Amino acid sequence: MSFIEFNEERCKRDGFCVRECPMKIIAMPDRESFPRLVSRAEELCIDCGHCIAVCPHDAITLKGLAPEDCEPVKKDLLPTGEQIAHFMKTRRSVRDFKSEPVPKELIEKCIDIARYAPSGHNFQPVHWLVIHDTDEAKRLAGIVADWMRMVIESMPAMAEMMHLELVVKEWDRGVDKILRGAQHIVIAHGDRTNMTAQGACTIALAHLELAACSLGVGATWGGFVHAATAVFPPMQQAIALPDGHQSFGAMLMGWNNMKYRRIPPRKDARITWC
Ligand SMILES: Cc1cc2nc3c(=O)[nH]c(=O)nc-3n(C[C@H](O)[C@H](O)[C@H](O)COP(=O)(O)O)c2cc1C
Repeated sequence: MSFIEFNEERCKRDGFCVRECPMKIIAMPDRESFPRLVSRAEELCIDCGHCIAVCPHDAITLKGLAPEDCEPVKKDLLPTGEQIAHFMKTRRSVRDFKSEPVPKELIEKCIDIARYAPSGHNFQPVHWLVIHDTDEAKRLAGIVADWMRMVIESMPAMAEMMHLELVVKEWDRGVDKILRGAQHIVIAHGDRTNMTAQGACTIALAHLELAACSLGVGATWGGFVHAATAVFPPMQQAIALPDGHQSFGAMLMGWNNMKYRRIPPRKDARITWC
């Protein structure tokens, strides 16, 4: 049995799978022939499932994955372009969080949406570390403050540019400008030798933020947290990622305690048309 099966009773030889396959491993010599696999097809296939996604006749099974195993596209659930534009423009970095934790199931739901984000070669290299325990998140924020102290000492120009002295001063008097009162930290990490991991983690985090926003969960990129996880050994020890893994970004999460009434303007797009 081949790793991709074409059901010849269902197949109408429309060639959609041939056109869609990014690796061009499906061929149809003419409109009378059924699709077939080219040589080295199994080795080249990136498991993206686009062949199943486009076949109007449910005629393709990929590595045992039948069309019926894939969620159908529900057209009536798709938002309009105008709705998407408004949603994306109204997304805000949330810095005012309620004190109740977000249930694990809801964070899992956000991650479940984010795992559909694109990744180079469909490697799907993103791993997630969720610091759900609020006390642990606060403990990590304390380590971020230690990293800031170290930067203030060793790289004063950079510390000044990032206003780290101010953040540490506030931290010391009990004002948290590191987590901003977020209850949870979500870190996206991956194998540091996988050249697609950094991009994939960043994109997945961007999707996570949008998913959170759509579900009423507040999120803000944790730039300081991420910087500490990337370079500060005590932070790296504290989060204990698997061997060979690197943190590629962090999201602060909690219940949004703020309502936004207006969309603040942003810089005009700087576009070069050729
Ligand atoms: C990579 C990155 C890191 C960020 N780090 C922080 C952070 O550590 N703390 C914070 O409050 N906001 C952080 N932000 C949020 C930005 O300040 C925010 O996106 C910007 O002010 C625009 O606001 P908006 O996201 O509501 O449009 C970060 C954003 C990005 C993209």
